[in-house]
Amino acid sequence: MGKLPVVCLIALVVLPLSSSLPFIVLHGLGDQCKNAGITRFTKLLSNFSGQEGFCIEIGDGSHDSWFTSVTKQVESVCEMVKSLPELQFGYNMVGLSQGNVIGRGVIQWCDGGPPVNNMVSLGGPHAGTASVPLCGRGTFCGVANLLIELGVYTPYVQEHLGPAGYVKIPTDLEGYSKGCKFLPKLNNELEEFRNTTYKERFSSLNELVLIMFENDKVLIPPETAWFGFYASNNLKNIVAANETDLYKDDWIGLRALDEAGKVTWLSLPGGHLHIKEAEMMTHVVPYLIDPHATV
Ligand SMILES: *[C@@H]1O[C@H](CO)[C@@H](O)[C@H](O)[C@H]1NC(C)=O
Ligand SMILES: *[C@@H]1O[C@H](CO)[C@@H](O)[C@H](O)[C@H]1NC(C)=O
Ligand SMILES: *[C@@H]1O[C@H](CO)[C@@H](O)[C@H](O)[C@H]1NC(C)=O
Repeated sequence: MGKLPVVCLIALVVLPLSSSLPFIVLHGLGDQCKNAGITRFTKLLSNFSGQEGFCIEIGDGSHDSWFTSVTKQVESVCEMVKSLPELQFGYNMVGLSQGNVIGRGVIQWCDGGPPVNNMVSLGGPHAGTASVPLCGRGTFCGVANLLIELGVYTPYVQEHLGPAGYVKIPTDLEGYSKGCKFLPKLNNELEEFRNTTYKERFSSLNELVLIMFENDKVLIPPETAWFGFYASNNLKNIVAANETDLYKDDWIGLRALDEAGKVTWLSLPGGHLHIKEAEMMTHVVPYLIDPHATV
């Protein structure tokens, strides 16, 4: 889950472009920077854009992506982006799956961090996901499944299972609001804790690209990649992003960004994170190239 598949690639001729902003890649759940798929993804974007790219690793990679709370994962990335001298004048961000809610945490909460220019989000669970991502047969699944059985909104599981921070069960929104430690805060959902700094920082992005995968079987529903989600107590009707309170009351600045023409809503036909090389070229690379840079 969240792992970037090695996809069929199409050869392309690439013009070298000069750079001024590097980019970072934040991988998905269960993945790690040394894996072939993500290494290739980062290299390709770097080659295509002519920019330096950094895959940012949290802890030891796969294990920590599962068993460190997403709040702590944000803190860890915040420290890393502050300490990398190459990022000190700002950077662009490419998020994959879980990496997107971590990335947004960095944008909204990382005090004193370098500015984020553009964010390109591929299959991000921005409005939550209605079930714990299927663990399948991976190494850690026995432990992950045991934790899930304890109850996803219990303090212990919130502390020890990364994805528990953004699981939003439509039939238990009360449990979610009370027990989920990460997403309600990230999305400024709780009135008593609403913090306008999150909105200021998120809406200061230059460009936001939200890529949804139409056949996504990992994010439930796939529309969460666009900030859409199920209506409460309902697993049938999807509330479109622009009809949610988050958008209408602009809790995090998504509406401000959209009204300023800075959001690209993009839907691709593949499954979770199945992006082709040509699609990367068209939909990701342009946002990694500084339009003001001299070519
Ligand atoms: C990126 O470019 C370098 C240098 O031209 C090349 O050696 C490498 O194979 C390229 N990587 C990918 C993933 O295309
Ligand atoms: C709001 O969030 C910012 C960024 O994390 C933080 O520095 C500030 O203290 C928060 N304000 C309140 C009132 O919690
Ligand atoms: C939301 O967007 C759709 C299409 O993008 C549009 O038809 C609809 O009127 C919008 N709804 C609101 C509340 O703005």
